[in-house]
Amino acid sequence: MSHTRPSGAQSGYDVVIVGGGVAGLATAWRVARRGLSAAVVDPAPGGGATHASAGMLAPVSEVTYTEEPLLRLGLASLAAWPAFRAELEDETGADLDYRTEGTLEVARSADDMAYLDDLAAFERTLGLRVERLTGRECRSFEPMLAPSVRGGLLARDDAWVNPRKVVRALLTAFEKAGGTLVPERAAGIDAPETGGPSVRLESGDAVAAGRVVVAAGSWSASLLPGLPVRPVKGEILRLRGPRGFLTRCVRGLVHGSPAYLVPRGDGEITLGATSQELGYDMRVTAGGVYELLRDARELVPGITELELTETTVGFRPGTPDNLPLIGPAGPPGVFAATGHGRNGVLLAPITADIIAAFLTGDEVPPVAGFCDPGRFGQ
Ligand code: GLY
Repeated sequence: MSHTRPSGAQSGYDVVIVGGGVAGLATAWRVARRGLSAAVVDPAPGGGATHASAGMLAPVSEVTYTEEPLLRLGLASLAAWPAFRAELEDETGADLDYRTEGTLEVARSADDMAYLDDLAAFERTLGLRVERLTGRECRSFEPMLAPSVRGGLLARDDAWVNPRKVVRALLTAFEKAGGTLVPERAAGIDAPETGGPSVRLESGDAVAAGRVVVAAGSWSASLLPGLPVRPVKGEILRLRGPRGFLTRCVRGLVHGSPAYLVPRGDGEITLGATSQELGYDMRVTAGGVYELLRDARELVPGITELELTETTVGFRPGTPDNLPLIGPAGPPGVFAATGHGRNGVLLAPITADIIAAFLTGDEVPPVAGFCDPGRFGQ
C-alpha cells in the first residue's frame, strides 16, 4: 500500500476525500480511475458505519413507500451494482460475497400481511418484481422460518454483499489506480475564496487539493458545520451457523420494529438492527442484544442455537429527509458525499458516479437532484 504521510501543506492532489467508508472509497476509486490524482484521509478505512453494516442492496424494503425519491435513487444505484461489482472483482481478484437470491419479507399477523400487500401493490406500480407467498411457500423457500409465519413477499431483485470485503477491495483498487491513503484523522477544512481548499490533519499537517469531498459519515458535520447530518445509533449482531441455514435475506416486523437476517456464504448471519437517536453512544447494551435476539427468534426460532460471534455499534449518517447529501457543499471547491442513512452500501455506486461527474464536468445523473446538500437552505 502506498501510505503517504504528508508534511506541511501539499498541493499534489486534484481531489482529497475525507472518509474511507464505502461511499468515500467508491468515490475515490472512481475519480482515480478517471485520471485525477486522489488521496483518502482516514486513520482506519472501512472502520465506521460500513464495518457495522449488513450490506443489503434492498432499496424497496429499506425505505417506506412514502419516500419515492429515496426509492428512485436506490433503484438507480441497485442497477449500477452488477457492473460496479464485476469491475471491482476483476480489478482486485476479490470475492465480494455478492448474492442475488432476493429478500423474503414475512408477516406473522393479518395486519402485517395487509401492510405487505399494500407495499406489493406500490412496488408493482414501479414495475418491480414481487411475489406474494403463503406461509407454506415461505417455509418451502426457507425451512428455518417459524411456523407462525403466515405469508410474505419475495423480492427477487434484491441483492446483498459483504461490506467489509467491499471496502478492502475498494482500497486495493484505489491504490492500484494510483490513489494514496493518508492514514490520519482530519481536524477541519479550510476553503478560501481563491487558491483551493485544504484538509487540516490532527497531526498539525495539512493536505491541499483542487477539490475536497467530505465523506465522513455522521462525523461530516464536524468538518462542515451546518451540514444537516446526525448519528443514528445501530446495534447489530453477527452469528455463525451451518452453511445454508438461510439462503435469502429474511425480514419482518416484530413488535413494530424491522428485524433482518442476512446470510453469508460461510455461514455467518448478520442480524440487525436497533435504531436510536443517542448521539455517539458507543455501548452495546444488554437491552439491544436482547431485543435483536428476541425479535429474530420470532422469525427464525433456530437462531438461538447459533454461536454469537460479534456485537457491533455503528452510526448511520441521518438527514432530515432521509436522502443523502451528495454534491457541492457550499465552501468553494468542497463537496459532500454523506447522509446515506440506512443505505450507504447500496448507494455507493451512484454516489461515486455523481461526485465523479461533478469533478470531471461530465453530465450529472438526474437523480442527483434529490441529493443537493443545499436543499435545506443552510
Ligand atoms: N440498512 C440496515 C440498517 O440500517 O439497519
